[in-house]
Amino acid sequence: MSHEFAPFGQGRHLLSVLQFDRENLRALFELADAVDPIAKRQAVCTVLDGAMLGSLFFEPSTRTRLSFESAFLRLGGEVTTTTGFTFSSMAKGESIADTSRVVSGYSDVLVVRHPDEGSVGEFAAASVVPVINAGDGTGEHPSQALLDLYTLEKELTARGKTVDGCRIAILGDLKFGRTVHSLMKLMSLHDGLDFTLFSPPGLELPPGVKEYVEARGHAVHVVTSVAEAVRGVDVIYATRVQRERMATDLAQANAHGDLLNRAILADAGNLDAIIMHPLPRDSRPDSYDLSDDVDDLPGLAIFHQTDNGLNVRMAIFLTALGVSLEAVHLTTKQRPWKATLR
Ligand code: ASP
Ligand code: CP
Repeated sequence: MSHEFAPFGQGRHLLSVLQFDRENLRALFELADAVDPIAKRQAVCTVLDGAMLGSLFFEPSTRTRLSFESAFLRLGGEVTTTTGFTFSSMAKGESIADTSRVVSGYSDVLVVRHPDEGSVGEFAAASVVPVINAGDGTGEHPSQALLDLYTLEKELTARGKTVDGCRIAILGDLKFGRTVHSLMKLMSLHDGLDFTLFSPPGLELPPGVKEYVEARGHAVHVVTSVAEAVRGVDVIYATRVQRERMATDLAQANAHGDLLNRAILADAGNLDAIIMHPLPRDSRPDSYDLSDDVDDLPGLAIFHQTDNGLNVRMAIFLTALGVSLEAVHLTTKQRPWKATLR
């Protein structure tokens, strides 16, 4: 009898944060720490020499696509990519199943973003190689939640705190924001969490996510103002209004000005809070997002998240392809050219 290689708890694909427990989460984070010199380009690795990533993004993306692709390249692999429907034969009516089977024949692993919930699971069902969910509609964004939690743990540790017992405010579009859905479920692996939620009317968290978190013993408070939400918390996770997912712009009717800014934090006496956001931040006027007047505050972690995304995505590839840390060390050498970064 053959046993399926199951690097992410259930099966070889990474589709949902529900595939994680404390043990495989810790293993992934240790791998993410171990590849730090490669992520920071102090060392050069060729462990994925000859491997090909198929990168399929049918929705806009900056950091997820580029950090997955950079992660694969930094491990010595190669990348083939398609973006949007226009330049894929899906524009000619090709199905997800056919597309996935075809591209998986050219690749060793696929990373897929698609606007429909459940669609990346359909890619996985037809693929001959592991598939990683880079965001499926309003469903999940597991690699984002993993990098968010990896970052949060580091930020809290630096302050002598732990994720266990953490008080977190989650703000913004909790209905359509898939990063919130994934993060709340993944964080629930920890103990004694206290979530405070604020969203404009019409953009509330789906009841299923709240029930999931409460069933694991965590407190969830829903409040009616941002000021109330951010008072006394350790961390604030702000999100963008997902306008592209709404038939009519609910936020335009219900929310104006900034979602969160320095004045709100000052009034709440919490200028030191850890500030996170999955990004992109919508910097257009009246977009109802995180103001850039918080950017010099000590707790701003948004670019730590984006930097850490590289480590976490390298760890995801190594796990998906069953590559040991020993193999990484054997194929890594010091970089012969001068460092300019971080
Ligand atoms: N970039 C994240 C996502 O694709 C969050 C966002 O777009 O607001 O889900
Ligand atoms: N956080 C995130 O998924 O960003 P992109 O949409 O730019 O990939």
